[in-house]
Amino acid sequence: REGGSLYDRIGPEALAALVTRFYTRVAADSDLAPIFPTDLTLTAEKQLAFLTGFLGGPPLYHQRFGHPRLRARHLPHPITPTRGRAWLACMNAALRETPEIAEADARELYAALARVAAHMVNTLEDPS
Ligand code: HEM
Repeated sequence: REGGSLYDRIGPEALAALVTRFYTRVAADSDLAPIFPTDLTLTAEKQLAFLTGFLGGPPLYHQRFGHPRLRARHLPHPITPTRGRAWLACMNAALRETPEIAEADARELYAALARVAAHMVNTLEDPS
């Protein structure tokens, strides 16, 4: 696929595969797993819906769940700089596990997510 939005270039199948691989990584990450639900089914559905609209596809998250208010929705979860880095490391690993996404598109997606992730950090590192 070429042209259009990042969503058009990546396509729904590859995006869904990426999200599945990402949450497999999250579930196995000792910094991230404790703040996520044990069952990540709904979390993954929401993320796929969100990313679909965020990357220029249909606004599925807005339609099902309303305005994302992402920073507000993350405030109940203690997101330290370490967890921000862990989240991005999981995404980077998932992107490398998803060769259906072209290298240039993967880089563009990662850069966009890194900007959002920095904005989600809401808690200082636990001093110990
Ligand atoms: C929800 C953690 C960054 C998008 C969540 C939840 C946690 C979390 C714990 C709640 C899961 C649940 O109860 O189902 C983190 C951490 C991040 C991060 C540690 C590191 C910076 C991001 C980024 C995005 C994002 C960068 C978007 C690109 C979402 C969405 C939801 C969500 C769409 C679902 C919101 C809802 O409940 O409707 N995140 N997140 N997150 N996150 Fe993140």
